[in-house]
Amino acid sequence: MLVAEWIEQVRAWRGHVTGSVGFVPTMGYLHAGHLELVRRARHENDAEAVSIFVNPLQFGPGEDFARYPRDLECDLRLLQDERVDLVFAPEVVEIYPPGFSTVVDVGSIGQRLEGASRPGHFRGVATVVTKLFMVVQPHRAYFGWKDAQQVAVIRKLVADLAIPVEIVAVPTVREEDGLAYSSRNIYLSPEERRAAPALYAALTHARVLWQEGERDAERLRQAVYARLAEEPLIRVDYVSVADAGTMEELAVADRPAVLSLAAWLGTTRLIDAVLLGAE
Ligand code: PAJ
Repeated sequence: MLVAEWIEQVRAWRGHVTGSVGFVPTMGYLHAGHLELVRRARHENDAEAVSIFVNPLQFGPGEDFARYPRDLECDLRLLQDERVDLVFAPEVVEIYPPGFSTVVDVGSIGQRLEGASRPGHFRGVATVVTKLFMVVQPHRAYFGWKDAQQVAVIRKLVADLAIPVEIVAVPTVREEDGLAYSSRNIYLSPEERRAAPALYAALTHARVLWQEGERDAERLRQAVYARLAEEPLIRVDYVSVADAGTMEELAVADRPAVLSLAAWLGTTRLIDAVLLGAE
């Protein structure tokens, strides 16, 4: 496994690869969710690259960039076990050298939901993913459905800019009690960790209503709010039923939709999502 810190090293590696390249961009502190993407990419491609880069551009002021968990040594061991070919783990100056000023803005799809709560977040995501795509030049790139709006944003990005990368979305990997694996789960106190499965329980409750025929999006949202209100440690940021392609809020859930939420447990902000009739 080649561990590259510099763009030139990745380009040199890429120049020698034959066959298809699968790529998994991450911010590291890898867990079972990331590893699922890594295995999918391994399975579907001749060569595999993973990036580990905590991207300052997608964190707002006052967010957790400085304290975001990092453990490169452990990450590299896990990726070695998965027989990854290349890990790109650059320093911030390699991606954003002095004077860097070009950004990629996907417009309104990135301004709703996560983009409304975290202004500039998806500009940061779209910019770094574009740069990573230009460096790695993969045939396929793998993203998790947990971050459903991120999937929609990346699909819009590659469509609008005609970037020749196939975007593969992978189902969310969960702990036994339903909590989606997330690098941020480490922030949770034991009490908050005990309360956290309520997020997915509320989403599945509403998904059952949808499966039973409920199409009124507001009633689905209210069903999620009602479940979450039973858990005093959870403070809801938003609950959304949105078009899976555009992430526009729906009145009637009569097409492939994403049911998603963001919520605070103490000082930790978690997101989760389920699909209503999509993929
Ligand atoms: P990060 O949060 O590290 O996530 C990397 C990828 O893993 C994302 O595509 C995310 O959706 C996926 N993922 C996270 N938890 C998952 C789970 N429980 N099951 C399945 N997949 C999961 O998302 C980012 O990093 C960044 O925004 C990035 C795309 C790397 C750009 O900086």
